[in-house]
Amino acid sequence: MKQVATIKEVRAEIAELKAQGKRIAFVPTMGALHEGHLSLIRLAKQKADEVVVSIYVNPEQFGPNEDFEDYPRQMEDDLKACKAEGVSLVFTPNDEIMYGSGTKYFSIDIEHMNEHMDGGSRPGFFEGIALVVNKFFNIIKPDVAIFGQKDIQQFQILKQMVHEFNHDIEMTAAPIARANDGLALSSRNAYLSDQEREIAPGLYRALKYVERQIRDGVMEPKLLLGHQQDELEAKGFKNDYLNVFSMKTMKPVKKLEAGSTYILAGAVYLGKTRLIDNIILDL
Ligand code: PAJ
Repeated sequence: MKQVATIKEVRAEIAELKAQGKRIAFVPTMGALHEGHLSLIRLAKQKADEVVVSIYVNPEQFGPNEDFEDYPRQMEDDLKACKAEGVSLVFTPNDEIMYGSGTKYFSIDIEHMNEHMDGGSRPGFFEGIALVVNKFFNIIKPDVAIFGQKDIQQFQILKQMVHEFNHDIEMTAAPIARANDGLALSSRNAYLSDQEREIAPGLYRALKYVERQIRDGVMEPKLLLGHQQDELEAKGFKNDYLNVFSMKTMKPVKKLEAGSTYILAGAVYLGKTRLIDNIILDL
């Protein structure tokens, strides 16, 4: 496994792999790798000959009061994990390499797909993600890129970006990796106290409960969702959102229809930690 930090080096390595006719899968990450990230790497190995992972905590996707400074950084462990999974190349740029210094003349605007869910709660979040992933795609030019369903809005927005900006990249989503008690794995779970970790699976349980009710025929789930939010608050969560969204537009949907695909998604705070989770509903 090779680790490179500069764009010149990563391009040279990729050019060599491509010259050998290798199909390249790319897994972008912000590090603090857990089983969720590793499941993406394993899927990447099935989809291509060589796997390229990026590890970069992208400042552009953090708001001024968010956890950029505190975000877990554990490069050595991450490199060991990548090596153990058979990753070929790890790209670990720094801010100077990704953004340089001085004026930035261009940005990416997103219309419509980021008004709700995490986009609604975190202004500028998806613009920052689209910017860095667009740069990664131009630098690495992978054949396939793997993202997690855990961040479903991120995946849908980036899939649309690939389409509209004509990246020749196959976009693949991997299922959500969970702890035994159902909690979706996340680098941010490291922030949870023992007591918070114990109640954290309550978010997934609430989603599962709503999913069952919808599958049993509740097609206007507003009251049900409101009730689940009350229960979450009673357990010690602070609600951000819990709703059903159109998979295509990422907008909330009041009345569900058979034959459509929705995303049942929630975001909560436990103390300072923000947790998100979702279930895809193919009705
Ligand atoms: P990060 O949060 O490190 O996540 C990297 C990838 O791992 C994302 O595609 C995310 O959806 C996926 N992932 C995280 N937890 C998962 C889980 N429990 N199961 C399956 N996949 C999971 O997402 C980002 O980084 C950044 O926004 C990035 C795309 C790297 C741009 O900076």
